[in-house]
Amino acid sequence: MSHAMRPYLEYQADRVEAVLAAHRAPGHITGGTVGPRLIRFFLNPAPHTRFNAVKSLADDLALAMQTPNLTIQRGKEGIVLEFSNPNPSLVKLTTLLPEVMPLPPATALLGQTDTGLPLLARLSSPEVAHILVSGTTGSGKSALMRTIALSLAVGHRADRLRLVCLDPKGRTFATLATAPHMARPSVQDAAEALEALRSLVRVMEVRDRRGETPDRHPTGSVPRIVVMIDELADLMMQGGAALSVALTRLLQRGREAGIHVIASTQRPSAAVLSSLMRANFPLRLVGKVVSADDARIASGRAGTNAHLLNGRGDFLAIGGEEPLRFQVAYISEEELQQYMQEFHSLIAVPLPLPPTGRQMAANL
Ligand SMILES: Nc1ncnc2c1ncn2[C@@H]1O[C@H](COP(=O)(O)OP(=O)(O)O)[C@@H](O)[C@H]1O
Ligand SMILES: [Mg+2]
Repeated sequence: MSHAMRPYLEYQADRVEAVLAAHRAPGHITGGTVGPRLIRFFLNPAPHTRFNAVKSLADDLALAMQTPNLTIQRGKEGIVLEFSNPNPSLVKLTTLLPEVMPLPPATALLGQTDTGLPLLARLSSPEVAHILVSGTTGSGKSALMRTIALSLAVGHRADRLRLVCLDPKGRTFATLATAPHMARPSVQDAAEALEALRSLVRVMEVRDRRGETPDRHPTGSVPRIVVMIDELADLMMQGGAALSVALTRLLQRGREAGIHVIASTQRPSAAVLSSLMRANFPLRLVGKVVSADDARIASGRAGTNAHLLNGRGDFLAIGGEEPLRFQVAYISEEELQQYMQEFHSLIAVPLPLPPTGRQMAANL
């Protein structure tokens, strides 16, 4: 927490207590957390203060605190007031990734939860398997896709994990082009994307028939394959029914064969994704959306308030019970290039081979 933060927090706590007292719903701020994007206050209400009375004062509290969005929930800490940090800090991939290395197998780094913990997603788990990323333009989808792709590449040898990138706009994965994990150059064209997905379906069928999975063949003969699709809607519009057939098959049966799909789209409505496809994304990562209705479509459930997120990497992970709020770890173009160079300096170094008999003699 920065030095200047304490007076701000004390001021805000005083405002909250003053508004509550003025409306005869007194309570005390007993503590809280300061996250990179969010501040939480824990409120202990006086015995006669009702939760609904505090909740109904949300607008008055937000006005007094001069904060654009304030949410009030019941939590195990009491009543939890949540509002945006006026001095948001950047969560950097270059700082967060070393903290979690070595990453467990099949695991991507997503970002940092608002309680300060690194958030990881394990693709091999049935609760993750395939990931649907949604959010309006500027919510940070492409940045999240890059973070996932790069953390997978950094965490795995290229013979253990392959990336197939479908990128209709051609910008998201451009810098990753030279990563040794790329199974093929990033695909922009819809016809080529269809061909790529169909060939993955064939790989899946062969693996199924032979009972091959990356977990059972840890030597690298059956690499995990991660298909990254940025702006899926663009691709679906051009690729039509054949593309959706191939994608649906990968979503339904890919995980066991070690093939995972991570796709982003602004609004996963029925026009973009069939309900069968949507049902096969166990994990949804939802950034800022424009309306409560879009929040429901993106999250696949009501009440997540994804339209109140701040954008630029402020996301919810929605899989299990409670949505988990996190800030996506960000990587700049320059830092990404740096990683690419490191991949290549690793490859350029020859493997330390055992010396031949003659060399050994020369060394003596
Ligand atoms: N995790 C993040 N942390 C900080 N800034 C971010 C983050 N993600 C995105 N941004 C900012 O928001 C802009 C839009 O992000 P982008 O990933 O292109 O959004 P989308 O693909 O959803 O339109 C980026 O250019 C960047 O400036
Ligand atoms: Mg984008």
